[in-house]
Amino acid sequence: MSALAEKSVILTGDRTTGPLHLGHFAGSLRNRVKLQETHRQFVLLADTQALTDNAHDPDKVRRNVLEVALDYLAVGIDPEKTTICVQSGLPALAELTMLYLNFVTVARLERNPTIKDEIRARGFGRDIPAGFLCYPVAQAADITAFKATVVPVGEDQAPLIEQTNEIVRRVNKQVGRNVLVEAEAVIPRVGRLPSIDGKTKMSKSQSNAIMLSASPDEIRQAVHQMYTDPNHLRASDPGTVEGNVVFRYLEAFDENEATVAELKAQYRRGGLGDVALKQRLETVLQHMLAPIRERRTACARDPEYVLNVLREGTRRARAITEATLQEVRLGLGLFLLD
Ligand code: TRP
Repeated sequence: MSALAEKSVILTGDRTTGPLHLGHFAGSLRNRVKLQETHRQFVLLADTQALTDNAHDPDKVRRNVLEVALDYLAVGIDPEKTTICVQSGLPALAELTMLYLNFVTVARLERNPTIKDEIRARGFGRDIPAGFLCYPVAQAADITAFKATVVPVGEDQAPLIEQTNEIVRRVNKQVGRNVLVEAEAVIPRVGRLPSIDGKTKMSKSQSNAIMLSASPDEIRQAVHQMYTDPNHLRASDPGTVEGNVVFRYLEAFDENEATVAELKAQYRRGGLGDVALKQRLETVLQHMLAPIRERRTACARDPEYVLNVLREGTRRARAITEATLQEVRLGLGLFLLD
């Protein structure tokens, strides 16, 4: 292990609004399984953040804490190596958020590209829940409370890390020393995976995504429905690879890069039919998801085990986040009762 790896602390998280899908897996999820071997890693079940645009459905947010935890365990996040914790069980994060809110302007929050996109996508207009507008500050609290230096996230999250570092610099300046550390976003090489129909990004609403828990039949059907090249009618016709969802998934999940390159060339030339192409992807996905689904089912049969993983992880995380909060309170010179 390099000195750098030893020193770096990794934090990632997922909003608990639904079980995870292949987009999450290609994004940061599968990286976390590797990173836990070389780094100190924390993974946050971000239920409080999920509430910022789901306050009308707290039930969904609560139920999905366990669903996402199952996904983590299923893909091989090992609770002996990675601390898995529940955001709402860490009150220090809420307190840090309150303190950090004084180091951010509303104008800056409204300019945050991630927030801007999300406000548009959700049709909030001016009726933005204040908690939603401020969730980047809460995420800054998450990241800094663990003193994370590396945050593996999708590219849509990069502006959140930038905003976190601005808060870090301001708080440190106010305190007069570096109580907080800056973090670096690590963005996966494979860009965001498209939905099955190729029109949008995958969502947790399930109909346009392949869930990690998908049955063999669901996988088969999803691949069958994938958008390819609408002008590629006969196998012998030349086809287009760009915008072809099947190729995006092969790029993300087929370990044999040379074969994928060959398939692309063949498709462009003509002579590779959609049925054969989809058959290849289905084989790759069935092979990849079978062990994940098995582990998920096994863990789901033992909810007490999963709960204990979360209890233990959250207990450990509580000590760490409380310590950071204490340092910030002292650094800012808040009133001390004892
Ligand atoms: N914003 C992330 C998402 O939408 C979830 C998240 C919450 C997170 N806190 C985090 C990610 C801290 C990285 C670090 O999925």
